Amino acid sequence: KRTIYTAGRPPWYNTAGQQVEPFVIGICGGTASGKTTVARLIIEELDVPWVTLLSLDSFYKGVRSDKEKELSATNEYNFDHPDAFDFDLLISTLQRLKEGKKVDVPIYNFVTHSRESRTKTMYGANVVIFEGILSFHHSEVLKMLDMKVFVDTDADVRLARRLKRDIIQRGRDLEGVLKQYLKYVKPAFSHYIAPSMAHADIIVPRGGENTVAIQLIVQHINLQLQQRGFALRESLVILNKGQPLP
Ligand code: CTP
Repeated sequence: KRTIYTAGRPPWYNTAGQQVEPFVIGICGGTASGKTTVARLIIEELDVPWVTLLSLDSFYKGVRSDKEKELSATNEYNFDHPDAFDFDLLISTLQRLKEGKKVDVPIYNFVTHSRESRTKTMYGANVVIFEGILSFHHSEVLKMLDMKVFVDTDADVRLARRLKRDIIQRGRDLEGVLKQYLKYVKPAFSHYIAPSMAHADIIVPRGGENTVAIQLIVQHINLQLQQRGFALRESLVILNKGQPLP
C-alpha cells in the first residue's frame, strides 16, 4: 500500500503553512459531451496530487412519489430541468470543499432513478472539479467557480454516445431513450445549457479529443496552483508502509 504524505500538512495548506482555498473548475456541456473525459484528462496532467471530482449527477433529487416513479418508468420524467436537482445541497457541499472540509456526497443510481442509502466521502483538495449539464445554471455556483470550461461537442455525436450509454449502462431501451431525448433532453439543451455557454472562460470544441485545448487549460491551472503555493507532486514524500520507497 502506497501512501503519499505532504510533510504533515493537510492538502489545503500551502508550503508556507497558510490555508489556501482550492482552485475550483466548472465543466459544463450537453449530455454525453465528454465532460467527465475532459475532467479526467485535466486531472492526469495537474502538478498537484489532491484533486476532488464532483458531479452534478450526485445531486439528482431522484424520483420519490408513486407518480414520479410511474413517469420515470415511461421516460416521461424531466431529468434535464433545474428542478430535478438539489441545488441547496450542491451549494453547501461546494462551500465546504472550498473551506477544505470533508463532505458526504449522495450516490445516485441511474437504473433505479434514486439516491442510494450510502454516501461517498470527499475531502478538501488543491483542485475541485465540478462537472454537469447545468453546472453554469445557478448564480451562487457560478460565483464559486475560478475557471469555467464549456465542452462543445456536436449534437449527433452526443446522441449516438447517449444511446449506447443509456442502453448498455443505464438499463434503458432504444425507444425510451429517443422519446426522452426528443421530449426533454434536446429542448433543455437549447433552453438552459447552450445559453449558459456565455459564462464560459474557455470553450472546448470536440471535448476529450481536443488535446491542444486541454493542454492550454492545464497550463493555466498549474500556474494558478503555483501562485497559491501548493506543494507540487514531485516534492511529495512517498512512503511504503511507513518506509520511504527506493
Ligand atoms: N438522466 C436520466 N435518468 C436519470 C437521471 C438523469 O436519463 N435518472 C439523464 C438526464 O436526462 C441528463 C443526463 O442524465 O440529460 C445527465 O448526465 P450526462 O451529463 O449525460 O452524464 P455525464 O456522464 O456527466 O456526461 P459526459 O459524457 O459529458 O461526461
